[in-house]
Amino acid sequence: MRIAMIGTGYVGLVSGACFSEFGVHVTCVDKDAGKIERLKRGEIPIYEPGLDDLVARNVAAGRLSFTMDLKEAMQGVDAVFIAVGTPSRRGDGHADLSYVFGAAEEIAQHLDHYTVVVTKSTVPVGTGREVEAIIRRVRPDAEFDVASNPEFLREGSAIGDFMRPDRVVIGATSDRAGDVMRRLYRPLYLIETPIVVTSLETAELTKYAANTFLAAKITFINEIADLCEKVGANVHDVARGIGLDGRIGKKFLHPGPGYGGSCFPKDTLALVRTAQQVGSPLRIIETVVDINDKRKKQMAERIIAACGGSVDGKTVAVLGVAFKPNTDDMRDSPSLDIVPALQAAGAHVRAFDPAAMHEAEKLLPGVEWAKDAYGTLEGADCVAILTEWNEFRALDLRRVKSMLKRPVMIDLRNIYNPEDMAKAGFTYSSIGRPAPAGGMDRG
Ligand code: UDX
Repeated sequence: MRIAMIGTGYVGLVSGACFSEFGVHVTCVDKDAGKIERLKRGEIPIYEPGLDDLVARNVAAGRLSFTMDLKEAMQGVDAVFIAVGTPSRRGDGHADLSYVFGAAEEIAQHLDHYTVVVTKSTVPVGTGREVEAIIRRVRPDAEFDVASNPEFLREGSAIGDFMRPDRVVIGATSDRAGDVMRRLYRPLYLIETPIVVTSLETAELTKYAANTFLAAKITFINEIADLCEKVGANVHDVARGIGLDGRIGKKFLHPGPGYGGSCFPKDTLALVRTAQQVGSPLRIIETVVDINDKRKKQMAERIIAACGGSVDGKTVAVLGVAFKPNTDDMRDSPSLDIVPALQAAGAHVRAFDPAAMHEAEKLLPGVEWAKDAYGTLEGADCVAILTEWNEFRALDLRRVKSMLKRPVMIDLRNIYNPEDMAKAGFTYSSIGRPAPAGGMDRG
C-alpha cells in the first residue's frame, strides 16, 4: 500500500515512520524546506526515543521518503493523511483549522484516482465534513472519501503507542474507505488490537472525549492530593486503593504540578468551546481547565513557602522544565508558569533539563542554565523537581545536600520517598503525602 502524510510535526512524522515500519510506502510532505532537507539528511527535528533508528531503517529500505511536492507524493496513493497542526486560536480557544483546510484545498488539486483523505490531526467535530465539502467544491469530479483516524500517541512513548495501541479509531464515510483504513492497520490484527469503526463525527468526538477525560482524571487526583495534605492522608495509597477498581483503573492517577503538553490544554479548551457553541456545555471540563490553570501558578507559591516564605534574593535550583520526561517539548509546561513566578518574587533560577533546554532558553529568559543536575545546586537555597526525568530519580543525596545552602527539596513529581529524605536530612515537600513525623509536608 502507499500513503502520503502531510505535516512532519510530531504526529505526522511518528505516524509516517510507523506506517512504513508496517510495510506501507510512505511519503511525508511538508512546506518547511529546511525541515525536509534535514529529514532527508537523517536529522530528526523532534526528540522521541527510537524515532531516528526507525526513520533511518525505513528510508534505507526505500519505504519512507520526504518531499515538499504534494503532487509527486500523492501519485498512486491509497490514502493521504492530514497531520498538520491545529493550535489554539488566539483569543477564543477554538482550534485553528486553517492548516487543515489549506491542506484539503491542495489535496483537491492533485486528486487523480480514488483516494481516502484521512484527518489525523485532532479536529473539532464536523471538520471532516468541511474537508469533504472543500474538496468537492474545488474538484466536483474527484473520486474520494474522507475518513477520521485520531491519534492517541503520547510523547516519549509514541512509537510503542503506535505499534501496540489499546485501540484504533476509524471514522469512515463509506465501506470502501473503511476497507482501505483497515488494510493499513492490518499488522495490528496479529496482536488483536480492537479497531473501532464509526461515523466521522463519532471518531472526531472520541479523540476529544478521551483527552478531556484523562485531563479530568489527573485534575481529580491533584485535588485529592491537596485534600490528603490537609487531612494527613497519602495520595499514592488513595490512588492505588481506587485504581485497583477496574472501573476506575490505575493509570493517570499520579499527582503533580498540573497537566501540560501539546494536547490536553489545547483539547480541553477546544472541546469546552465546541460544547458551549452547540448549547451543551461541558461543565466538568470547564472546571478542569480552570483548576489546572490555577494549579500551575500555585506551584510557585509552594516553592516559595518551602523556602521560608520568600525567595527574594535567593537562588532556586530547578530540575526539569519539559512538560514531562523523554521529550524536549515545552508547550504549556508547568515550568512556564512556575519559573517566571519565582523570578517575579525575586529569585535567581538556575535550571537543567536533559533535552528541553534549547527550547526553553527562548521561553524562559533570565534563567541560568547548568550542564547537568548537580550544576544547578552549588549555593542554591533549595532545589525543586519539576519534571520526573529518570536521571533525577537517583541523585547522590549526600552530594546534593553538601552543595545546597539549605537542604530543602520541593518534589512536584513525588519521585523521592518522604522517609528517605527525612533520614537524609532534607526538609522535603512533595504533593499529597504526609511528612514522616505525621505532620504536613508543605514546608
Ligand atoms: C496525551 C495523551 O496521553 C495522548 O493519548 C494524546 O494523543 C496526546 O496527549 P502527551 O501529552 O504526550 O499525551 O502526554 P501524557 O503522558 O498523556 O501527559 C500529559 C500531561 O499530564 C503531562 O503534563 C503529565 O505530566 C501529566 N500527567 C499525566 C500527570 O500529571 N499525571 C498523570 O498521572 C499522567
